Amino acid sequence: MDREKPIILSGVQPTGQLHLGNYEGALRNWVSMQDDYRMYLCVVDWHALTSDFNEVKELQDRIFQTMLDFLCSGLDPEKVSIFIQSDIKEHAELHLLFSMIIPTPWLERVPSYKEKSEAMGLDSYGFLGYPLLQAADILLYKADFVPVGKDQLPHIELTREVARRFNNLYGNVFPEPGGLLSKFPLIPGIDGRKMSKSYNNDIKLGDSPDETAQKLKKMITDPNKIYKGDPGRPEICPVFALHQVYTNAKDVEKIARTCKSGELGCVEDKKLLGENLNTALENIRSKRKELEKNKDYVLTVLDKGAAEARERAVATMSEVRKSMNLVRSYA
Ligand code: TRP
Repeated sequence: MDREKPIILSGVQPTGQLHLGNYEGALRNWVSMQDDYRMYLCVVDWHALTSDFNEVKELQDRIFQTMLDFLCSGLDPEKVSIFIQSDIKEHAELHLLFSMIIPTPWLERVPSYKEKSEAMGLDSYGFLGYPLLQAADILLYKADFVPVGKDQLPHIELTREVARRFNNLYGNVFPEPGGLLSKFPLIPGIDGRKMSKSYNNDIKLGDSPDETAQKLKKMITDPNKIYKGDPGRPEICPVFALHQVYTNAKDVEKIARTCKSGELGCVEDKKLLGENLNTALENIRSKRKELEKNKDYVLTVLDKGAAEARERAVATMSEVRKSMNLVRSYA
């Protein structure tokens, strides 16, 4: 693998099966970057425990489902190192060392901490440290860039502050990573809100064509369009937003026109979307089915990814220990 390419690290929570929003917002973007960057993709199982510590039974299955989605989307393990965070103990060591130098107010003022700890009643030590563990994930690989959604930018900023503080205290070890925001289409869920597992409004990559069609049947449309003949407003219709992603431009134009005129009803409109969506996902889904039967292959990918990640993590930690005078030499 080419060491000259810029280093990218990203982390994903093992939430289980990924949905269209994850695919369009993250996976597709990673797949397109895998040739131009040296990518490390980390499934952050320890982060998952910061909120789901009481739901560990399904953890391994969630990791496996996430892996299936990664691999069926076209991430190539020959190009990208895909690994599990807890396989590389150096993440924990770096997190611990960072915890010595970070003032707690830096963590308490992170917006995601305040919101989530109040909303979900999370008050553990580990949860407060969530963004610091993320900083360790990133800095352990000396990543140049971190592709993330907007909501993660405060965590990247914190990572840069941690790097700066460490470098000031112990010498220049860490580069300051930049966030990499990508443009991606808005993917609404079936209730019209942003597609999200926690809203239970998602269409999964692994859903069958029939399940997809059933979900689309329930999808909301323009509330003023009650009967087929009523004129619709594509610009506010979530079904139309999905057409813009999965239907070819010529048909999109026709759908907009006939929806507005009332010629096209919502039932028919959703049927068209279902066909296009299912066609677009056909290859991904068949690959997913194949991989599902091949657990050994998935394990091989993770072993390979961990070996590659470990090499870099070990090198960074030896620099870190040296710079903090944690290495014995009585010579
Ligand atoms: N906090 C990220 C999220 O919820 C997940 C994450 C953990 C991450 N470690 C990371 C993302 C390192 C980028 C880099 O999406």
